[in-house]
Amino acid sequence: MYKHLIDIIAGARPNFMKIAPIIRAVHARQRVGAGFGFRLVHTGQHYDPRMSGDFFRQLGIPEPDVNLEVGSGTQAEQTAAIMVRYEKLLLEKRCDVCLVVGDVTSTMACSIAAQKLGVKVAHVEGGIRSGDWTMPEEINRMVTDAITNWFFTTSQNANRNLRQSGVPDDRIFFVGNTMIDTLLSNMDRLQRPAFWDELGLESNAYFVLTLHRPANVDGAMAFAGLLKAIGQGTRGMPVVFPVHPRTAKTLQSLAESPANIRFVEPQPYLEFNYLVKHSKAVITDSGGITEESTVMGVPCMTLRDTTERPETVTMGTNELLGTDPAALKPALDRLFSGEWKRGRIPELWDGKTSDRIVNVLERLLENRIGAGP
Ligand code: UD1
Repeated sequence: MYKHLIDIIAGARPNFMKIAPIIRAVHARQRVGAGFGFRLVHTGQHYDPRMSGDFFRQLGIPEPDVNLEVGSGTQAEQTAAIMVRYEKLLLEKRCDVCLVVGDVTSTMACSIAAQKLGVKVAHVEGGIRSGDWTMPEEINRMVTDAITNWFFTTSQNANRNLRQSGVPDDRIFFVGNTMIDTLLSNMDRLQRPAFWDELGLESNAYFVLTLHRPANVDGAMAFAGLLKAIGQGTRGMPVVFPVHPRTAKTLQSLAESPANIRFVEPQPYLEFNYLVKHSKAVITDSGGITEESTVMGVPCMTLRDTTERPETVTMGTNELLGTDPAALKPALDRLFSGEWKRGRIPELWDGKTSDRIVNVLERLLENRIGAGP
């Protein structure tokens, strides 16, 4: 039996690549004697095999110890259901630290339930901010960080945001990016998707598109306008579009879409990143994908007005185009004329972040578990 227990929380697709290397690092530490136990808690926010189970299998994540099975709902319904069920779990068996990652609803809901019971909260990817309160993720980040004890940060921007909001330095641990740990350790295992030949894909001669933000996909008019501009600006090259379940709902209501946009199912991790790595460029409204494309040196166009990951723009290959379809053509013209920036890899995105997190956690568990924030 271990002296301390950590809950590792995962709920939605972008969490799974962030927890996988942390779990691997904890296991490695346990094998050499030291360490702590953990309980893997899946909230069930994402439940489709393509949004969840496929990632567990490909990334070697163990079966969750607990699945809270909350399923779909409004923001408040999901938050409430996760809080009620996670609180019950903590009351049955308490942990010492609740480790949350990213910015999804599960991240915020579990932090609140834990902190209200006096359980320390550690937030991996703490401190990042877009300033855009219309996105549920920004609210999740602000609420989670307001009650986080220990912050594991991906960037100096995050460190600055936290200091500016009054967090003392001894609660901020600049460790790098666990999502990049996963990417680097899987780079040699990436898999060409089965539809590669069927769609006639060739390296550097197709685009990858992902869209799932409410602002881009919940309204049929806005969504159709973006698809049209993308279809035209990409000059007939195939555009591979793995369709998120949320996006699929709006897609059904569209009368037509450009012929070169090829809709496919949400892709497993290894297939998706194979596609990104070999593409001419990525067009997206995701945050995580901007980090992965920066590390792979692939041009990235983000259809949002803000980003919580500014280093992907200042250092990386990413550019913010906003949500006006008119911005696409000039950007794509620049890409086709070979003028896209090359980018650099941000500090500490080196594949060793999870080891650093486990080192810090071990120290904190020994020395600061009973102390104030
Ligand atoms: C969530 C995250 C977002 C993340 C995204 C990645 C929040 C606030 N947002 O957004 O940060 O980038 O996941 O995927 O947590 N659905 C299914 N099957 C599933 C999961 C969802 O069909 O396995 C449907 C739901 O019924 C819902 C829609 O997809 O209608 C949206 O799912 P939800 O988890 O509410 O938010 P996402 O838009 O996926």
